[in-house]
Amino acid sequence: MKNRKIIPAIIGILCIAVLAIAEQNKGAEKIVLHGGNTGDVSFPHLQHQNVLADCNLCHDLFPQEAGVIDKMKAGDKLKSKQVMNTKCLKCHREKKKEGVKTGPTSCSVCHQK
Ligand code: HEC
Ligand code: HEC
Ligand code: HEC
Repeated sequence: MKNRKIIPAIIGILCIAVLAIAEQNKGAEKIVLHGGNTGDVSFPHLQHQNVLADCNLCHDLFPQEAGVIDKMKAGDKLKSKQVMNTKCLKCHREKKKEGVKTGPTSCSVCHQK
């Protein structure tokens, strides 16, 4: 009977598929974002994932792809102020008001020339 070999093989493949789905791609631990003349911004991605839990706090505005912000800006699909003000600055200011640990709210702390 061939089934004796085929069935365990199928179960094995299914296990691998389930593991692959469970292992979510979380992207780079640290990302450098481009702030044009104002200077690049180093962004601790993993740290935010650990603190914030909800990916869509940011990824409602742009998909989970490396370099997508630059691409969307170039294609006029994203105004740069949306990421900086709507995402980064707004959240940091809100947390600061709430009195919890947060990230920088001044230009030169984020933007490094
Ligand atoms: C505080 C904002 C923020 C949160 C929360 C966040 N991300 Fe991201 N993520 C970014 C930014 C910014 C980029 C870079 C986009 C670019 O390169 O233009 C990015 C890029 C990515 C990428 C692309 C690969 C890479 O290395 O650049 C993946 C995958 C990703 N995120 C997954 C996730 C997942 C999964 C979560 C939730 C567990 C998450 N992100 C939470 C801001 C965030
Ligand atoms: C929804 C809220 C939220 C958003 C959006 C967000 N942050 Fe933060 N950020 C935080 C919090 C909370 C912390 C404090 C992390 C901790 O407790 O370790 C933080 C910390 C930081 C730090 C300091 C890390 C350290 O170790 O001191 C930097 C730099 C930073 N954020 C940059 C950014 C940038 C750049 C963006 C936009 C791409 C961004 N953040 C978007 C909430 C946010
Ligand atoms: C929490 C971090 C953070 C702070 C604080 C911050 N920025 Fe930014 N800024 C970014 C990020 C990330 C980008 C790149 C994504 C984008 O264009 O929104 C950016 C982009 C920009 C750009 C657009 C550059 C381009 O590509 O055209 C300008 C201009 C800018 N910032 C100016 C400022 C000024 C002025 C301040 C102070 C009031 C400031 N930023 C504070 C994170 C920050």
